[in-house]
Amino acid sequence: MTFEQMWADLAPVGRSDATGGYLRQPFTAAEEEAQAWFAAECARRDLTVVTDAFGNHVAWWGSPTPDDRGVLTGSHLDSVRQGGAYDGPLGVVSAFAAVDLLRSRGFEPSRPIGIASFREEEGSRFPLACLGSRLATGILAWDDARELRDRDGVALADVVPGPDARPDAAGWLDHVGAFVELHVEQGRALADVDRPVGVASMIWPHGRYRLDFTGRPDHAGTTRMEDRHDPMLTYAMTVLAANKQARLSGQRATFGRVEVDPGSTNGIPGRVTGWLDARAESPEALEALVDAIARQAGDRADRDGTAVRLTAESVSGAVSFDAALARRLAEPRGWPVLPTQAGHDAGILSGAGVPTAMLFVRNPTGVSHSPEEHAPVEDCLAGVEALADVLEDLAR
Ligand code: GLV
Ligand code: MN
Ligand code: MN
Ligand code: MN
Repeated sequence: MTFEQMWADLAPVGRSDATGGYLRQPFTAAEEEAQAWFAAECARRDLTVVTDAFGNHVAWWGSPTPDDRGVLTGSHLDSVRQGGAYDGPLGVVSAFAAVDLLRSRGFEPSRPIGIASFREEEGSRFPLACLGSRLATGILAWDDARELRDRDGVALADVVPGPDARPDAAGWLDHVGAFVELHVEQGRALADVDRPVGVASMIWPHGRYRLDFTGRPDHAGTTRMEDRHDPMLTYAMTVLAANKQARLSGQRATFGRVEVDPGSTNGIPGRVTGWLDARAESPEALEALVDAIARQAGDRADRDGTAVRLTAESVSGAVSFDAALARRLAEPRGWPVLPTQAGHDAGILSGAGVPTAMLFVRNPTGVSHSPEEHAPVEDCLAGVEALADVLEDLAR
């Protein structure tokens, strides 16, 4: 099975014929089909698959123990809504291809090598990214997660067994001595320096915040403009303020989801809920950014006769990847070392104390979380070779 064959097999799973975008939300038919593909590729290579209480799969070449820990690679197969083909799957397909390459080189690892498929990395169904790795590492307690609900009201506990049913919960973590996640780059830094592969230095701190704007529902025609308490107006001005604030400070602020109640063309809404995704180079800069947006939203609400309430749904601190490991991988090979603004399971494992590194594969346009996300096949193959070299280095 070549990289290209695996890529072609996985490509149609969850892809919309109309847009070319992917919808692989965890524990839905499309994502389960991708996990079945994962299981088949593991079986083809005689890897031993462990599935934990949260649905994460870890497949081993060799038999790790807490005293003989393995080197884990892999990524995720779930997608954002209308996502691209590469975010997640590139790391999983490359992992299988790297194992194949190592075997064709006749490499006999002295430490086990594993491939992970984490669940709900994107937080596209349940309202928290990296849910599978957070639960497996204990960074998120099951009792705080079991009642997380998707937009249809389905609870997480309805779709995964959880540690009550599976006391071995996530024992695989004790078998991991290092984690290396390969990922498509989600920006243009590698294109700018004209290199196919790079190593991550850190992940920017980032958070998801819900802003509830409330006003007075009213008639769109008969209500004079000066008599309105229109939360849509407050919301719209907040979007503009967030954009300006992020531009001025060199940070990132995005409203990518909004709900309007009741949502009538001929009615002023009573409530608008917008979700802010904010990211910044330091925790202080993130706090300053969100505070500034909240303050401007409040000022605008006062002017509009509306109200706004901000709730932090999740905040992820800065991740500094293992600097010695990054140097060990990057220096001899001349790979650039760069920060990323995207969250990853690698950040969670790093936070749990696992020595962790990330490899990025060039994305010429930087477009991601979009059907246009792309990496040329030559760069993907360079990524496979880079990953194989890293695994060989760490499992020798
Ligand atoms: C995940 O990809 C994120 O950073 O939002
Ligand atoms: Mn990803
Ligand atoms: Mn993503
Ligand atoms: Mn991600």
